[in-house]
Amino acid sequence: MQTLLVTGGAGFIGSALVRLLINETEWRVINIDKLTYAGNLESLADLANHPRHLFSRTDICDRAALDGLFAAHAPSGVIHLAAESHVDRSIHGPGDFIQTNINGTYTLLEAARAYWSGLEPAARSAFRFHHVSTDEVFGSLGDTGLFLETNAYQPNSPYSASKAASDHLVRAWHHTYGLPTVMTNCSNNYGPCQFPEKLIPLMIHNAVSDKHLPIYGKGDNVRDWLYVDDHARALWLVFEHGIPGETYNIGGHNEKTNLEVVDTLCSLLDDMKPRADGKRYAEQKVSVTDRPGHDKRYAIDAGKIERELGWKPVESFETGMRKTVRWYLDNPEWVAHVVSGEYRQWMDRNYGDRT
Ligand code: NAD
Ligand code: TYD
Repeated sequence: MQTLLVTGGAGFIGSALVRLLINETEWRVINIDKLTYAGNLESLADLANHPRHLFSRTDICDRAALDGLFAAHAPSGVIHLAAESHVDRSIHGPGDFIQTNINGTYTLLEAARAYWSGLEPAARSAFRFHHVSTDEVFGSLGDTGLFLETNAYQPNSPYSASKAASDHLVRAWHHTYGLPTVMTNCSNNYGPCQFPEKLIPLMIHNAVSDKHLPIYGKGDNVRDWLYVDDHARALWLVFEHGIPGETYNIGGHNEKTNLEVVDTLCSLLDDMKPRADGKRYAEQKVSVTDRPGHDKRYAIDAGKIERELGWKPVESFETGMRKTVRWYLDNPEWVAHVVSGEYRQWMDRNYGDRT
């Protein structure tokens, strides 16, 4: 049985990936996560006692702890998702983004390199370090065009700049030291277990809590939405079949303005959980001050991963959004715990207050 280190496995995308690995492969997963406000073990409650899922509350900036995990578990590879991930938070406080996304990736790369250097030749060449990144490193598009793997990096927010820096470190560790890395740059994800600070879960939560739905500026910014399980499948395909040193863009060909997304959510909610007073959820929309430096449009050309690795998304925007709304309506306690602090208290009792 082979072992994989997954960082950030208690987060939104990481928990979907861990579930896929446990349910659809024979691999053993060492899930390394600091459990910041965004990490939630309740997302993996069904796998808590699974014999192939081991959780370690570890900060990726802690070199000694990482060395211990590599030595103890002898992994065949790493999929690195741990990061600070929210643009608005990065604008209000970039420090954690520099620390985790840049210094943390550097620390993980060095721990991986030290371990990998000591492997036998066959294990050295089979080893993979998969760095999970974002299309936001490419900056903002105008009305036309798509992001290709060859686009120049032009990150605009503290979040995307910190991810761009980490991408460059990974590239350099491959070029200079020969570490067998692969990298993916994905568009905006949505689906179950996403912290309600990002657009889609925030809007669902606010709508059913009878709060305003805050649209930044005119609501005409465009994002290219991908259902999280489609991303997880793409990550595993790249880990297994991607060529070392290569990067792959991942996206679902689902360009929508923010207003289109919110209107879709409102009509799904009108259908699935009508308001008691007969009003429509869209009446809760309000326009608020725009985000500083707000990127206008993201859109992915996923031709390379489609052609070379045969990946295709399974969910359409319509099926994925319906599943997502259903999940949030069926799991109000998951949201209540993460927004009320109840979950944090539970975590601190069980894991100690170390964040
Ligand atoms: P998330 O915020 O939901 O989860 C991040 C996880 O990392 C959390 O569990 C958190 O506890 C953990 N973490 C944070 N700092 C840590 C540290 N110092 N040490 C160990 N663990 C730490 O994020 P997500 O949306 O699941 O994103 C995962 C990755 O995918 C990120 O690298 C992000 O940049 C990338 N990505 C996200 C999207 C998206 O739309 N969400 C799109 C493309 C790429
Ligand atoms: P977000 O989910 O934060 O992802 P990102 O900024 O990484 O793309 O935001 C998606 C889009 O939705 C972005 O254009 C900002 C906008 N937005 C709002 O209009 N209102 C909100 O309350 C939030 C959180 C985002």
